[in-house]
Amino acid sequence: MMTSSAINESAEIFSKSTTQLSLKDVYKVYAGRHGWPDKLLRRTSPDYIALAEINLDIVANQFVSIIGPSGCGKSTLLNIIAGLDQPTQGAVLLNGQPVKAPGPDRGVVFQHYSLMPWMTVEENIRFAIETVFPTMTRAEQIDQVRQYIELVGLQSASKRHPHELSGGMKQRVGIARALAIEPQMLLMDEPFGALDALTRGFLQDEVARIWEQQRKTVILITHSIDEALLLSDKIIMMSRGPAAKIVEVLDIPFPRPRRRENLAQFSSYAELRAELELHLSRETRAVEESRI
Ligand SMILES: Nc1ncnc2c1ncn2[C@@H]1O[C@H](COP(=O)(O)OP(=O)(O)O)[C@@H](O)[C@H]1O
Ligand SMILES: [Mg+2]
Repeated sequence: MMTSSAINESAEIFSKSTTQLSLKDVYKVYAGRHGWPDKLLRRTSPDYIALAEINLDIVANQFVSIIGPSGCGKSTLLNIIAGLDQPTQGAVLLNGQPVKAPGPDRGVVFQHYSLMPWMTVEENIRFAIETVFPTMTRAEQIDQVRQYIELVGLQSASKRHPHELSGGMKQRVGIARALAIEPQMLLMDEPFGALDALTRGFLQDEVARIWEQQRKTVILITHSIDEALLLSDKIIMMSRGPAAKIVEVLDIPFPRPRRRENLAQFSSYAELRAELELHLSRETRAVEESRI
């Protein structure tokens, strides 16, 4: 029979093995300008509290979306998770270890592609692989590049340069590059925001397909309720800033694989959609009114 301490211990091991990323009471304050040169030049500004009291646990292999009004601090939060920015206060733990800098355990995809313009598709992906796996042989690298180009369906464009690609293709290169370093987690900041609606829908389906294959943890920032409902296990709703917080985390129970045309048949769909719409419109209205 298990003693209660053994049960507690196993419960702890269980929670450690499932919680991959943990944010504990994270705050981000952007320092204003209040030094004497600013005072002399009459251009002082106060500190800006972007994020406040962010507590979040993300379980491995889940697809999590973050939704919130423009300017609320979504990119700030993702950059902190990526290690590109530091919280002013609080802790960010990946597998229990503090995040201090970017690392190959987190692949990042930005809205604006950030591909090397002088490199072909293959070279862009290989460059990331070389950086992360310096001991890989050339043949292994080439094989890895090929696998990830196939994963995103870009075989026919592998020798092209970024300027010869459509926005959707560039973003597929970005996704292939982020996944080719075999991260534990994929972080995406409005990856489809610059694409037209049709391409966007196509890439959402691609991301859903790739996620079914790989089941990596994904954190996706999006403005799109439909995108979040199609892809996510959980949707994190953020309030407007300053001092933006997580106001609610919605569980999205629809079975997978999902098809956008079937989602409306699930009983909770209408309610979840309405809740997200109400939240976004209320927060966005408040942001707009505060500007007047
Ligand atoms: N480097 C910075 N210095 C000062 N303020 C910033 C900086 N980066 C972002 N902010 C402010 O923090 C808030 C959150 O920004 P951001 O994370 O980009 O929002 P979102 O991605 O949700 O649109 C905004 O009000 C923005 O102006
Ligand atoms: Mg942003």
